[in-house]
Amino acid sequence: MERLQKILAQAGVASRRKCEEMILAGKVQLNGETVTELGTKADPAVDVITVNGKAIGIEKKLYLVFNKPKGVITSASDPKGRKIVTDYLKGVNERVFPVGRLDYDTEGLLLLTNDGDFAYLLTHPKHHVPKTYLATVKGVPHGTELDKLKKGVMLEDGMTAPAEVDYYDVDPDGKESTIRITIHEGRNRQVRRMFESINHPVQRLKRISFGDLHLGNMKRGLYRHLTPAEVEDLKRSAKKEKKHGKGQ
Ligand code: URA
Repeated sequence: MERLQKILAQAGVASRRKCEEMILAGKVQLNGETVTELGTKADPAVDVITVNGKAIGIEKKLYLVFNKPKGVITSASDPKGRKIVTDYLKGVNERVFPVGRLDYDTEGLLLLTNDGDFAYLLTHPKHHVPKTYLATVKGVPHGTELDKLKKGVMLEDGMTAPAEVDYYDVDPDGKESTIRITIHEGRNRQVRRMFESINHPVQRLKRISFGDLHLGNMKRGLYRHLTPAEVEDLKRSAKKEKKHGKGQ
């Protein structure tokens, strides 16, 4: 017997957290009865589980890494008709969802999967999985300003955890510079807000790694399947970061 939200996430319905919301919203039925209790357990081999009346299926697990271009929305649909990440996944017939988000204007490494447990493990705030970005910012921040980001800065939703920060490239005329920053959280627009707090707004932002996985020279707009070893490494990195409580 497993909790319903776990079964739904494993079946690729959505992330575990989203599945919990669906249960609470009365969208999930167990053997014909609507369930709204999060503790409810079921046996997928025996019980009939439906979402909005449609039976869930057991899908093959997919794990993709995508180099998201700027100007693409990390979402399953967009009412404004902008490009969405799944527009780029030609040849993928299973429904996959992004592991966390990248802003519309951010490019770089985005994981996609239909494995809700995997997405939950990698995005849960307790797990502190490191994410590295190249942030091209206005001007050249002083070392003391970067030290503030390293220690943690106060944003409207609280102090940020310590980050690793170093200079990556500095424009000789001082108009802009590229800073490499690794954060262990995943708050909304976090990197942009961190640089705003030191008065060096971000002009371009690219995620270059997630846990031990690096974007490398993957072309913009393309995706590939992760190898089983890469999937295991990502899971391990989430568990390791949790154990050491790194980043807070
Ligand atoms: N931080 C941001 O500000 N934006 C992103 O897309 C990711 C991290």
